[in-house]
Amino acid sequence: MSDSRTRESTRQCDLDQKARAILERNDRGGYTVPNGEVYPFQWNWDSAFVALGFSTFAPARAWAELETLFRAQWPDGFVPHIVFWKPDPGYFPGPEVWQAGRDPATSGITQPPVAASVVRWLFEADREGGREHAERLFPALVGWHRWFAEFRDPLKKGLVLVVHPWETGRDNSPEWDAPAAAVDTSRIAPYERRDIAKLDHGMRPTKEDYDRYLAILEFGRDHSWDHSLMAECGPFRVLDVGMTMILIRAERDLLALAEMLGHEAEAAEIRKRLDRAAEGVSFLWNEEVGAFCSYDMVAGRSLPMITSAAFLPFYAGVGTPEQRAALLDHLARIASRVRYLVPSLDPEHGAFDAIRYWRGPVWAVVNFLIARGLADEGE
Ligand code: DGY
Repeated sequence: MSDSRTRESTRQCDLDQKARAILERNDRGGYTVPNGEVYPFQWNWDSAFVALGFSTFAPARAWAELETLFRAQWPDGFVPHIVFWKPDPGYFPGPEVWQAGRDPATSGITQPPVAASVVRWLFEADREGGREHAERLFPALVGWHRWFAEFRDPLKKGLVLVVHPWETGRDNSPEWDAPAAAVDTSRIAPYERRDIAKLDHGMRPTKEDYDRYLAILEFGRDHSWDHSLMAECGPFRVLDVGMTMILIRAERDLLALAEMLGHEAEAAEIRKRLDRAAEGVSFLWNEEVGAFCSYDMVAGRSLPMITSAAFLPFYAGVGTPEQRAALLDHLARIASRVRYLVPSLDPEHGAFDAIRYWRGPVWAVVNFLIARGLADEGE
């Protein structure tokens, strides 16, 4: 090996070791905290990515991560975005604020459904060792996807409605600025943030964002986390392009699992939902922007901007050749403006902020999904 190749592979081994050390340090036995100080509980989509990480060196631990998450599933199929397995004063808003009335205590909102895709990948990597786990998780995944179809598809087009910006995982994306600005924050209870005691304010959502997060949370809590009511008259109701693309891909992966495990009835049901979504996504296409965009259901308008989620149609396997070409043009344009792809917001957008959370910074998890989609589609 040449010197430079040896250096590169040493660097990668070091990175690998460091990544493993982070997972091991944050492992709380069956679930992993995203960050022991700022995020000291189990987070839904974080756990799906964590499982992928564990699968590279501890496959049994990877399965445990997902099985633990689904132990907190509600009877109607809903899977919460946070599971508060053990008390920890380090995070706000904690279980006493959410008051979801569950054991274990959970939040009352969900998060991007990456889990079915990860279960498929884990199972394909080890059919023999994974079968029992995949069989156990399959009904839970079906239940969660049915929950999306029942409670979060108001147009019956396979487009995912979110009722809180935190559900999208892209907490303070400028997509949510206008819809969240319409939320009445005048009656929220006084609160104290814990995140900015530990992290740089400049990298975090603003106080205005937090007031809105809390007002929406209090609405859900005051209505006993009634999923139908939140979807019909909650203060924040947006069709999210990111969740939609992630769910479509997850449905495809759940279908593959159903076929591999021989669950024909479920496979037929998923195929129907997929057909509906493949057609339905055209509703989100914004011709002026040349991209699929999120849509504010309260104001009845498209939210015209390009975030990293706009590049997930490849991952979902949707879009016409013309739409895909337009997205690739955007990607090339953005690539000419930044050192690292893919920023969470188009750098030409007025709200771009290179360090503030989801208003510019590059996020590994979304990059992973974008890259996987582009590779799968031969791009
Ligand atoms: C937070 O508290 O910052 C989270 O992103 C909510 O999930």
